[in-house]
Amino acid sequence: MRTQVGIVGAGPAGLMLSHLLHLEGIASVVLESRSREEIESTIRAGVLEQGTIDLLERTGVGARMRREGAVHHGIKLRFGGRTHRIDLRALTGGKSIMLYAQHEVIKDLVQARLQAGGELRFEAEAIAVDGISGQSPRIRFREDGRAQELACDFVAGCDGFHGVSRAAIPDAARKEYQHVYPFGWFGFLTRAPSSSDELIYARHERGFALVSTRSPQIQRLYFQCDPRDDEESWSDARIWEEMHARLENVEGWKLTEGPILQKGIVALRSFMVEPMQHGRLFLAGDAAHIVPATGAKGLNLAVADVLVLSRALAAFFRSGNGALLDRYSATCLRRAWLVQRFSRWMTALTHRDDRDDAFTRQLQLAELEYLTNSRAAQAALAENYVGLAME
Ligand code: PHB
Repeated sequence: MRTQVGIVGAGPAGLMLSHLLHLEGIASVVLESRSREEIESTIRAGVLEQGTIDLLERTGVGARMRREGAVHHGIKLRFGGRTHRIDLRALTGGKSIMLYAQHEVIKDLVQARLQAGGELRFEAEAIAVDGISGQSPRIRFREDGRAQELACDFVAGCDGFHGVSRAAIPDAARKEYQHVYPFGWFGFLTRAPSSSDELIYARHERGFALVSTRSPQIQRLYFQCDPRDDEESWSDARIWEEMHARLENVEGWKLTEGPILQKGIVALRSFMVEPMQHGRLFLAGDAAHIVPATGAKGLNLAVADVLVLSRALAAFFRSGNGALLDRYSATCLRRAWLVQRFSRWMTALTHRDDRDDAFTRQLQLAELEYLTNSRAAQAALAENYVGLAME
């Protein structure tokens, strides 16, 4: 079995890369350990930056997003019993965001790849990536209980934080940076009409809360929790009580309740690996970096990586020029660190950290106060929220 680019993982990074390579006339095979049903139904985040929206549309996979997604021109910050709107569109010269769930993007990409005759192998679990220092790296994987091997010109490690790809870079050639937050997010879906036409990021003494949406009928809500907490210790009544307390009935506003359809806890983490490449292996998306969910940047960062990678691979296969490939890691890391900075800042702005002293808590309020009174500060938030330039 042989292909030009072997891709480990059918998340946003792997599928988008396969799609972009196909448009450049480059063959790839995607290996995914989970089933198609599983990747198409796993609940993740749902905010697309302007650059991601544009890229999906430009490359022919944006039609359903346009129909079913919701464009938002602003977000709301709530603290101290008040709500402040950040006018994303006005502050960025016309840019906005799209609410469209990650697993819907996955469905659209899977369909586009299959329709174009692309090779996606589900329930094919990568075991190791070998030979990345030579000309012909190989991905060893298991499918139907049998050991198999995929030989390629290049390997793209798009297999997430827990994948095997990153470990193929020798320890001595790899530096990792990690910051673990002392809190997690309790996320849940509810069948209820939306309570707000825009996302609400709430800072409260009891901790952060977020009102997001999936459709006019289904809402996505989060609140900050202990990362070791157990979902099952949260009854529906207790969940709603906590959400009401943190969001408060500001200016007559009220959170609409409904049956809770799904719930789960995720830890918040910041992680970076440097470099994002070694020999003929290139890491993209969560395999290379994790950002805390507050900025809603994970998928967007993955898409930015693979856009850079697809262009570099296209240049190489067209002319044998490897200059862009050589610069892949440096190009992506520059943007990724800026996104880390923003995600960390949004997290510190809105979360309660029990380790903070009283002085630090007052500073958090001062930061929010400044933000709501300074157009310059709001413009900085908006510029990052709608997404920094992709390349
Ligand atoms: C989501 O809708 O899942 C979502 C929205 C905004 C965030 C994170 C997640 O910052």
